[in-house]
Amino acid sequence: MQQRLKYAALLVLLNVGLGYAVMEPVLTACKRSDPNVDKCIAAVVNRIRPNIMSGRYGSDKQHITLDPVMIERMRIDRGPSFSANFTDLSIKGISGFDIKKLRANIGEKRINASVLLPRLEVDGKYSLNMNILVLRLTGTGDLTVNLTDTKAILRLEYFSERVGGKDLVRFRPIDLKLKFDKARFYLKNLFNGDPTLERVGNDAINENPHVLLDEVKQAFEESLSAKFTALTNSLMKDTELQEMFVE
Ligand SMILES: *[C@@H]1O[C@H](CO)[C@@H](O)[C@H](O)[C@H]1NC(C)=O
Ligand SMILES: *[C@@H]1O[C@H](CO)[C@@H](O)[C@H](O)[C@H]1NC(C)=O
Ligand SMILES: *[C@@H]1O[C@H](CO)[C@@H](O)[C@H](O)[C@H]1NC(C)=O
Repeated sequence: MQQRLKYAALLVLLNVGLGYAVMEPVLTACKRSDPNVDKCIAAVVNRIRPNIMSGRYGSDKQHITLDPVMIERMRIDRGPSFSANFTDLSIKGISGFDIKKLRANIGEKRINASVLLPRLEVDGKYSLNMNILVLRLTGTGDLTVNLTDTKAILRLEYFSERVGGKDLVRFRPIDLKLKFDKARFYLKNLFNGDPTLERVGNDAINENPHVLLDEVKQAFEESLSAKFTALTNSLMKDTELQEMFVE
């Protein structure tokens, strides 16, 4: 009996190792017939907060982390009125998300979610030329931004791809839109080293942070969407459509 159990365990392990495995162990399937399927999905998403930070979901596979999420490079060029490069951005706090609304339409293979991000801390390097009020801001250096109560709307759409006799789940690029609320910036070395001008420049930005936020929003959304899509597809890489939502 003992021996047989050991064999069974070994077979399970081998199956996992050989890629017969289904979803990452932390992700449990919801029932497509469940009238509360939205709640079931939200519960799974709520459960994976620590996994978002570690990039591990129960198997030995390492996925990208979303907290912090790293954005290697963001370039924005709108001519003389605004141009900026951001590099090595690290964004902390996504795992503090609060799901406000989640709706799935399994027939249409779509999931929409509205999420509040109470607190995000961004740091990295910047290089910037911009006009704000009557000031011409220019500088290169370290950047920190604290964002409070950012809203995110996510629209996910998936399909199946036939691979080796299986219908595997694939996600289209996630449509992600952000709405910033409060923000506090600090751009070190603004005006390349003049401390008085640095303070004046940062005060000008923080008095009306949406001038700068509006300029970076789209690049920020695109970068985050790419990370979210990459993680989702890497988590579901070997998952069959009927395993994602079971009968
Ligand atoms: C951003 O980087 C590009 C390419 O490296 C460069 O041409 C451009 O001048 C940079 N812009 C700023 C504002 O530093
Ligand atoms: C998701 O949002 C899109 C665009 O607003 C809408 O067309 C679609 O019906 C929504 N789907 C669900 C499941 O709520
Ligand atoms: C952001 O928040 C951290 C932690 O509360 C604080 O140390 C830092 O000074 C804040 N940065 C800005 C630019 O307000």
